[in-house]
Amino acid sequence: MLSTALGRRTSTATIIWSSSAFVLVCVSLYLLRRSSLPVKFLKHSDDAGPEHGRFNSTLGFQQIFVVNLPERTDRRDGMTLAAALGDIELEFIDAVRGEQVLDKALPPLPAGKHRMADANVGSWRGHMNAIREVVRRNLTSALILEDDADWDPLSNDHSTYVDSTYPTPQDAASPGPILDFNQLPSTINPTTSPYGDNWDVLWLGHCGMSFPTATTSAAAKVPKGRVVRLDDITVPERQYLKTIYDVDCLKNEYPSHTRLTHHVSDVACSLGYAVSQAGARRLLYWLGLMEITTAFDLELRHFCEGSDGKPYHNCLTVQPGLFQHHRPAGNKTFESDISSHGTEYRDKPVTEMIRWSLRMNVEALLDGRTDLVDQFPDTE
Ligand SMILES: *[C@@H]1O[C@H](CO)[C@@H](O)[C@H](O)[C@H]1NC(C)=O
Ligand SMILES: *[C@@H]1O[C@H](CO)[C@@H](O)[C@H](O)[C@H]1NC(C)=O
Ligand SMILES: *[C@@H]1O[C@H](CO)[C@@H](O)[C@H](O)[C@H]1NC(C)=O
Repeated sequence: MLSTALGRRTSTATIIWSSSAFVLVCVSLYLLRRSSLPVKFLKHSDDAGPEHGRFNSTLGFQQIFVVNLPERTDRRDGMTLAAALGDIELEFIDAVRGEQVLDKALPPLPAGKHRMADANVGSWRGHMNAIREVVRRNLTSALILEDDADWDPLSNDHSTYVDSTYPTPQDAASPGPILDFNQLPSTINPTTSPYGDNWDVLWLGHCGMSFPTATTSAAAKVPKGRVVRLDDITVPERQYLKTIYDVDCLKNEYPSHTRLTHHVSDVACSLGYAVSQAGARRLLYWLGLMEITTAFDLELRHFCEGSDGKPYHNCLTVQPGLFQHHRPAGNKTFESDISSHGTEYRDKPVTEMIRWSLRMNVEALLDGRTDLVDQFPDTE
C-alpha cells in the first residue's frame, strides 16, 4: 500500500537519462502514529506491489535469512521471538566455527598473508553460506541479518523511491545531487524488487557510515548523491545518534529526525543487508572465491566501494540504519563471538537509535499491548 504510493506516481512520467540503468533507492520509514495504533493494523496486503517482494512478512524481499551459530541457542530464541512478535518470517542459516573451516576451503590469500583469526573465518563462512543460498535458490532478493538485530516492528511499511537515472557511476567525481525525499523526481517503475532494480546490496544495518565525499577513502568510484528525508519521527533526536566514526556527519550537518539515503562508503558491521540475485552472485565470486584479507564486513565494504582490488558495485544505505544491535542484559563477554565486548555485567538491555524497538518492547507485546514505549522521547 504505502510501498506503491510512490511507485504509482512514478508511472505518470518516466525520465531516462542514461541506459546504464543505475538505481538510487530510498528505503525509509513512514510516519506512523505509534502510541495508539495496534501493530496489526499496520500490516497490509501488498497485492499492488511488484511480484517479487512480499511486504507482509518478508519486508519486500523474497526471503529473510538470519546467520546464526547453532550453539548460540540464546540468539536463536531471541530472534525467533522477535520475528513472531514483529510478524515476519525468517529462516536460520547455520554459521560455523572458524576452526572447522579447512585452509584449502578459504579464498586464496595474497603471498605472505596469514589465515584470519578463527572468529573472522567463522563469521565470513556464515555470511557466505547465506549468500550462497540466495544464489542456489535463485532468489530475486534476500535480506540477511545477524542474530542480534533489532528493528522497529511497525516499520514493515517501507516507502520506496527508485530512480534508474541518477547519478551514473561515471559522474562519481561530481558532488552529486541532494534530493528532498518529499520532492523526488519521477522515475520508471521497478520490475524485480519494490526497492528498485539493478542494486547489488542495500546495507540497512551498520555501526556507522560516512557520506561519500571527495575525502572519503574510495570516493573516486562512489556516486555522491543523497536523498534527505527531514522530519522522520522514527529517527531519534541528534543527541541519541551514535557512530563508531570520530565524525558524525549526520549529526553535524542535519537537523534532528533526518534520515538519509546514499551510496555505501566507509562503513563497518554487517548487521543487516539485502542482496539482489546479481549482487549475491557477485559476492559469491568476489568474497567467496577471490582473495580476501580481512573481516567480512570490511570486505563487503571493499566490494561496494570498489576498493582493495575489487570493482565498484551498486550498494545503497540509509543513515541511521534501520537495524541496530540489541544487547541483552548479562555478561558482555557473551555479546560477540568475534570480538571482545568487555567482561562487565550489563544491567539493562540496550538497542541504540531505534525509538520503538521491537526487542525493547517484548514484554509489552507479549501482553498484547500495542502502545509501544518510545526509548528516546523528544526533549528539544
Ligand atoms: C503474504 O505472505 C505469504 C507467505 O508468507 C504469501 O503466501 C502471501 O501471498 C502474502 N500475502 C499477500 C497479500 O501478498
Ligand atoms: C533464475 O530466475 C530468473 C528469473 O528471476 C530466471 O530467468 C532464470 O531462468 C532462473 N535461473 C534458474 C537457473 O532457475
Ligand atoms: C563474564 O564472563 C567472563 C568469562 O566467562 C568472566 O571472566 C567474567 O568474570 C564475567 N563477568 C562477570 C561480571 O560475571
